Amino acid sequence: MALLSLKELYNGYDTHFAVAAFNVHNLEYAQGVMMAAEAENAPVILMVGAGMSKYCGLGWMAAVCKYAAEDTHLPVVLHLDHAKDLELIVRAIQAGFTSVMFDGSHLPYEENVAQTRRVVEIAHAAAVSVEGELGAIAGVEDDLQVSKDLLTDPAQAEAFVRETGVDALAVSIGNRHGLYQQPADLDFQRLAAIKGRVEVPLVLHGGSDIPDAHVRRAVALGIWKYNVATDLKIAFTNALRARLGETDSCEPPATLGAAREAVKELARKKMQLLGCSGQGGRWKAPAQNREVLR
Ligand code: 13P
Repeated sequence: MALLSLKELYNGYDTHFAVAAFNVHNLEYAQGVMMAAEAENAPVILMVGAGMSKYCGLGWMAAVCKYAAEDTHLPVVLHLDHAKDLELIVRAIQAGFTSVMFDGSHLPYEENVAQTRRVVEIAHAAAVSVEGELGAIAGVEDDLQVSKDLLTDPAQAEAFVRETGVDALAVSIGNRHGLYQQPADLDFQRLAAIKGRVEVPLVLHGGSDIPDAHVRRAVALGIWKYNVATDLKIAFTNALRARLGETDSCEPPATLGAAREAVKELARKKMQLLGCSGQGGRWKAPAQNREVLR
């Protein structure tokens, strides 16, 4: 099937679970994630990070992920992760991305609203969904430390969604990108309060290295899109390192094949944990989806 927008994916379900969103950086990551989606019969969101796109190329990844979607009956979204500038967003839309994140979390509130709204106007004209961010997410992405001032304010989140028209909202509830230096300490009360005020799907960034019980609780309280990058990179790299220690072969199936398999196995575990396993075939195309976006 063709790539779906985030909104089309969300609107095609009438039950709550979280969809796994994985950052993919090359062919093996994309194939490993799609092999997991097939094995789990799960919908999936393939993400390319704005920073990483300088390495892997937006056009290359768009072509790979577009093919991945066309080669399966499962619902697949292609999402640009953490874009901070409009020019990259426009290039991603032109390359075929069906969802984009505008990360204005570093901006003063009014500026974040104004720039996010502009992105929404442009993206919606092309039937592309937009994820916004309010409150900032600590960790490797922006080199911020978790602190109370960064957390999403529920009342402000409600206003932000109304004023911008975003299709999904990334929240800051104590989550951070990369590995946690202290055990993850998510503010579930805050998450419940945001969920009570915001109708669009909620996104959790920094989904690696969080204990399973906390992940389940975050999903039960309303997280719908769950982002994972670091855990997958660790699985890929550890498997590749181990295989290179075992073999003298320079053949890609003998080396990169092990890394692809590790991506698949880890992605399967995340899908099972998030509750999206078994949901792939249950997605229904709401007829008005495209109209709503336009
Ligand atoms: P992790 O690297 O912590 O899994 O975070 C991924 C993410 O949120 C990408 O936007």
